[in-house]
Amino acid sequence: MSAAGTAPVPTPAGSSHAGNRRFVLARRVDGLPRTDDFRLETAPRPLPGEGQVLVRNRFISVDPGTRGRLGDRETYAQPLALGEVIQAATVGTVETSANPRFKPGDWVAGAFGWQEWGLSDGRGLRVVPSNGLPPSTAIGVLGIPGLTAYFGLLDVGALKAGETLLVTSAAGAVGSAAGQIGRIEGARVVGVAGGPAKCDWLTRDLGFAAAIDYRAQSDLGAALAAACPEGIDVLFDNVGNAMIDAVLPLMKRGGRIVVCGQMADYNRPAHEAVGLKNTRAFIGQRLTMRGLVAFDYVRQYPTAWERMTQWITEGRLAYREDIIDGFESLPQAFIGLFTGENFGRRVVRLA
Ligand SMILES: NC(=O)c1ccc[n+]([C@@H]2O[C@H](COP(=O)([O-])OP(=O)(O)OC[C@H]3O[C@@H](n4cnc5c(N)ncnc54)[C@H](OP(=O)(O)O)[C@@H]3O)[C@@H](O)[C@H]2O)c1
Repeated sequence: MSAAGTAPVPTPAGSSHAGNRRFVLARRVDGLPRTDDFRLETAPRPLPGEGQVLVRNRFISVDPGTRGRLGDRETYAQPLALGEVIQAATVGTVETSANPRFKPGDWVAGAFGWQEWGLSDGRGLRVVPSNGLPPSTAIGVLGIPGLTAYFGLLDVGALKAGETLLVTSAAGAVGSAAGQIGRIEGARVVGVAGGPAKCDWLTRDLGFAAAIDYRAQSDLGAALAAACPEGIDVLFDNVGNAMIDAVLPLMKRGGRIVVCGQMADYNRPAHEAVGLKNTRAFIGQRLTMRGLVAFDYVRQYPTAWERMTQWITEGRLAYREDIIDGFESLPQAFIGLFTGENFGRRVVRLA
């Protein structure tokens, strides 16, 4: 799969086009991303060669993890180069194909990033299964967010029936899947989310035992203790160090902390990093804390897809999509993740 075309020209937002519009990194991001960190360009629409597939992107993801690649520090992935197309998961339709695995009109999931067209030799591209679900779910509940929840909880968290699971950013794409998988596995599940609408959804629609609106708490530790009177066996954390520190005193013996994401920390400069203070709990309660990268489980994706699709079909795993229309919306849709604007898996739909 490749970023398509050459010889870009700057494109005024909203202009009509006959090429391939794409957003590239305009400068290194410092703090909360801004729309002018990204530059809209138009490149020629790519021409497929022998064995290649041309894909028209229909849905493009915005992912918090992308923030880690916009600065100059290496995380688990290299920083993007200035001028490089912003990386993201995509779902689209095959426009033309010279590859026997794909035919025109097929819905395909790939990773073409923030651009209208993608060119591929077939590697990294898969036909979206006809499972009765909207194609966008291939980059949502059945994409990296859902897979992260599945492996983070069941492998890293090693959740067992009867345990108490606390999930943070619980109304988000990863968090809502993790909490529901926890329920399916027989855990008592408590969520932390921002605002009453998200908390109501967790308890009324998803069956969480309790949900804490962290923004409304003057004493988060007390609210967590009230919602988890017997303590917490597994913390599935999407938020960061201050959150983990607040939860540490409540962890039970042998507890596991899954470090999945760091929403509250991604935009902090290194010198303002928040540390953990309540680490004594690691000794007394024999705790473990482990991070994950979903891509490490790629060989096991088919099992997860099968199980999760079945749970969705049976009505046991619900998902929510937050669809924003218009290619030009990509930067603002991404930035909104860091203020809690999204409610569910945020994707941008192209006309
Ligand atoms: N390790 C992996 O392989 C992997 C893979 C995918 C995603 N992730 C991580 O998983 C986490 C969730 O990703 P997602 O795609 O499902 O996003 P998401 O949870 O759907 O969206 C982000 C949410 O984070 C919350 N948030 C934003 N700023 C916050 C802050 N300062 N403090 C607390 N919460 C804040 C907001 O919800 P509220 O309104 O509830 O605050 C916002 O809606 C991210 O940290 C992401 O990087 C990890």
